[in-house]
Amino acid sequence: MSDNRNEISEYWDRKAEQLRTDPSATMKDVILRSLEIEAVGARLNRDDELLDVGGGNAFAGLQWAEVCKSVQVVDFSEKMVEFGRAAIAASGRDNVQTEVASVLDLRDYAGRYSTVSCVRCLINLTSEADQFTAIDQLGSTLRPGGRLLLIEGLEETFAAMNQARKKVQLPEIQLDWHNRLLSQPRLEAKLAEAFTIDDRVDFGEYYFLSRIVHPLLVAPEEPAFEARCNFVGKNVWQSGLARGLFAPMSTLMLYVCSRI
Ligand SMILES: C[S@@+](CC[C@H](N)C(=O)[O-])C[C@H]1O[C@@H](n2cnc3c(N)ncnc32)[C@H](O)[C@@H]1O
Repeated sequence: MSDNRNEISEYWDRKAEQLRTDPSATMKDVILRSLEIEAVGARLNRDDELLDVGGGNAFAGLQWAEVCKSVQVVDFSEKMVEFGRAAIAASGRDNVQTEVASVLDLRDYAGRYSTVSCVRCLINLTSEADQFTAIDQLGSTLRPGGRLLLIEGLEETFAAMNQARKKVQLPEIQLDWHNRLLSQPRLEAKLAEAFTIDDRVDFGEYYFLSRIVHPLLVAPEEPAFEARCNFVGKNVWQSGLARGLFAPMSTLMLYVCSRI
């Protein structure tokens, strides 16, 4: 097992130092991030004891703490945890905490949680073997019948989104150097070893509006993340109006899974 400390943890430490408790510290597209938080939050129950792995500066964990019993955030970046602690202290909430731990070693958390969430953390691991080890580790934190809420980036849907951009003469979006997307069929086969996949939630309509329509509308200007068209994309996603229609180009996908 090759841990992804060093360059990648240093990258996240730097992001935490630059952006502190800001939501953009772990994703530039804060509208898409709000959709992720909403999608996970809608699936939490009042009595859930949640472990959020790779939870960054606890921005999402703090919101989920409003709808469930308790939230334990962990992240391997000491700086993310430091700013997460500051955000938790400022919130005054007493049902959320954060500490340093790696998704590749969750022994200290084994069998303790009703639900484990993990949002865009596995894409930071540098091999599929590590990503699959991490899925085993996430599963190990659950009580029998517990649930995994996993949002990750997928190779096939990322490629389809870039294909669509090519058709309308938009340049390809390059993958960040520290990201390794997962293959959707292989991820689903891996999940099926220990979980049933109860639901897949895509953000395709948001991708269509923010990654295709908005850049075309503003060309030759550069698209902006907090553009009106992207807020429309959020509204369309929330309405459920076009749910599933653009799933093939949804780079990010939420998997709602129950432990077998
Ligand atoms: C893209 S950010 C996502 C953060 C947060 N889940 C969110 O929704 O924005 C990835 C996070 O995973 C953390 N991370 C990367 N590799 C990790 C590992 N091996 N163990 C724990 N955390 C890790 C990073 O420090 C960073 O905070």
